[in-house]
Amino acid sequence: MEVSGVDSEGKEFNSAQEMWREAIGEEGDETKKTQWYRDGVSYWEGVEASVDGVLGGYGHVNAADITGSEVFLKTLIQERLVNGGTNQHLVALDCGSGIGRITKNLLIRYFNEVDLLEPVAQFLDAARENLASIGSETHKATNFFCVPLQEFTPAPQRYDVIWVQWCIGHLTDDDFVSFFNRAKGCLKPGGFFVVKENLAKKAGFVLDKEDRSITRSNPYFKELFRRCGLHLYQTKDQKGLPQELFAVKMYALTVDIPPKVHKTRSKTRSNRPQIIK
Ligand SMILES: C[S@@+](CC[C@H](N)C(=O)[O-])C[C@H]1O[C@@H](n2cnc3c(N)ncnc32)[C@H](O)[C@@H]1O
Repeated sequence: MEVSGVDSEGKEFNSAQEMWREAIGEEGDETKKTQWYRDGVSYWEGVEASVDGVLGGYGHVNAADITGSEVFLKTLIQERLVNGGTNQHLVALDCGSGIGRITKNLLIRYFNEVDLLEPVAQFLDAARENLASIGSETHKATNFFCVPLQEFTPAPQRYDVIWVQWCIGHLTDDDFVSFFNRAKGCLKPGGFFVVKENLAKKAGFVLDKEDRSITRSNPYFKELFRRCGLHLYQTKDQKGLPQELFAVKMYALTVDIPPKVHKTRSKTRSNRPQIIK
């Protein structure tokens, strides 16, 4: 990506390539890349397994986040899934699920089965516990995968929705593209991805040296989605988050070419140096 960016210490980069060279080394330097992923997971291993922990001390945004996601998801299910999703056995994958916050508060109500993927064992254990008394025989958390996204290949044609929120920043561009390419074949016909992430605005990207993640801009995401061969079906800006946080955007992505593309623009996008970690 020919966009300039910064890191969390204020260092400027002329391009994403320059930043990635520093972060994960030259192409083929697997040692540095392995260290990048190890450091990212180590950061989260030191965080309390709670809503406040996975939201970087902003546990109070949980309600606004879930409400925003629910409005977005409901329309998508009605528009995309057979019979608006009614009388179907719906299955979702919650990627980088943390302690199961999104599954517990949202996905389990809409899907008959939800699988969770999370590389930090203590978070996944907490998710198992948090979800043990939630749901029913027909709405339940089924599989708990303790692996990182860059190493995961989901089961073919299992999912109606693959939900990726506040975790894809841990993946390098190539692993981002490779993950979505593998996951495409895991969607059922009509199925879709939801990517909900922080957006860098002024800079093309912001590298967080503490948790080893990158916050990408909207054009950066769009370029990566293009590389994945995914189509933007719908986007929506998350409302009601504190001003000091990065703006947050939801993208619905499909493998097939959508008949029409809906777009809404927030009038109050902001980009301050605080992020949800
Ligand atoms: C900000 S938390 C968000 C958790 C959850 N998505 C939520 O919104 O409540 C980021 C999550 O990404 C996970 N993560 C870190 N590296 C990852 C990777 N390589 N693949 C998948 N998840 C990763 C962390 O362990 C953590 O649970």
